[in-house]
Amino acid sequence: MRLLALSGSLRARSSNGAVLRSALTFWDGPATTADIGALPHFNPDLDGEDATPPVPVAALRTAAATADALLVVSPEYAHGVPGVLKNALDWLVSSGECGGKPVAVITASPFPTGGDHANAQLREVLRMMSGEVVTAACREIPAIGPKVDPTTEQVKDAATLTDLGLAMAQLAEAATTATATATATATAPLTTP
Ligand SMILES: Cc1cc2nc3c(=O)[nH]c(=O)nc-3n(C[C@H](O)[C@H](O)[C@H](O)COP(=O)(O)O)c2cc1C
Repeated sequence: MRLLALSGSLRARSSNGAVLRSALTFWDGPATTADIGALPHFNPDLDGEDATPPVPVAALRTAAATADALLVVSPEYAHGVPGVLKNALDWLVSSGECGGKPVAVITASPFPTGGDHANAQLREVLRMMSGEVVTAACREIPAIGPKVDPTTEQVKDAATLTDLGLAMAQLAEAATTATATATATATAPLTTP
């Protein structure tokens, strides 16, 4: 199973980046993290039928198309989704690579709320994009600061690590089911009325 991960923080020492890296250690298969900071601002004029998508956009779309599941890990800014992440998702709306793909949304915050507003908004956006949001694989991680090891830049809190492992197992299970369903549909014999 191939995973595409997106982080909503471009910060070098991002706590959400640490959560993402730790989550990936539980993924049994190839995983790619998208470079969403390289994307231009979304502009429908660059996205029409006759337009050639900018190179970073084409790369994101290819990575999304070849992924069996998506992992979105993000902070919350002003009770919302970071602009850089929403920008990346906007580039995937019309091209449709998220359709039917199992998606996990994880938000981490230094505050007790765990980025709950951004988490809910991301789930809504991804559902609108026909992603299959795997609720059992979504997490809101509160008080993230001391749960990250500043040296390894990975999560060190044992309970959080265990929970991330459970979340990734749920995402992998959903990806396996979705792939099996898609294969069965593609190979089913055509029936005539
Ligand atoms: C502009 C700005 C707005 C923020 N707004 C929120 C917020 O609404 N809710 C929240 O939980 N944290 C908020 N924070 C705090 C972030 O959760 C915190 O900076 C976090 O460490 C960012 O994630 P990162 O470590 O992955 O970069 C905000 C931070 C910034 C810089």
